[in-house]
Amino acid sequence: MDVVFIFQWLDASALADFTKTWAGLFAAVQTVHILSMVMLCGMMMLGDLRMMNVILKGVPSEPIIENTKKWIYLALVLIILTGIYEASAIAMKLAYNSFFFAKMAGLSMGIIFMLSLRNAVYLRAPEEIGANGERSESVPVWVVKLVAFTSLLIWFTVAASGRWIGFS
Ligand code: HEM
Repeated sequence: MDVVFIFQWLDASALADFTKTWAGLFAAVQTVHILSMVMLCGMMMLGDLRMMNVILKGVPSEPIIENTKKWIYLALVLIILTGIYEASAIAMKLAYNSFFFAKMAGLSMGIIFMLSLRNAVYLRAPEEIGANGERSESVPVWVVKLVAFTSLLIWFTVAASGRWIGFS
């Protein structure tokens, strides 16, 4: 599907006029973009590394997963808003940049994975990992660890392709 028209529309928008006129603001917005990424990946890593039994082994997993959720959602909102702002300044460059498309695919995959498999499996972590008490419907330890590893891999790929846009 040809999506270049979306980038053409963004490039001709009032937002693009604004971002190109106020170039100094771009640096500030990019800083918020990167800080949001740090928050997003940091919170994600807290949960995933806990589920892999690497960090915070003595702490039950449930409060970690529950408490990191709202920060993950906030970081996602900030990163998408600042990302659109940045994209408007270089829309026509992004229209032909495969790392940008890889990043968008990774972002969509990461969100779907988090809302479906990650949430469902972490809620059913066996006591050995979760310290959540007896659970009749718990999933095997290796499944929890595989989900945690996959989640880390997806977000690492998204962040790496984001950085790569700047090089390409
Ligand atoms: C709708 C969502 C997003 C859009 C539209 C977007 C767009 C952009 C744009 C236009 C840039 C500037 C590229 C350049 O240097 O020329 C950028 C940089 C970057 N983005 Fe995103 N982004 C989004 C989400 C994300 C997410 C979810 C992550 C990480 C988990 C991320 C990580 C990065 C990184 C690491 C950079 C490079 C910053 C630098 O090198 O200074 N972005 N993004």
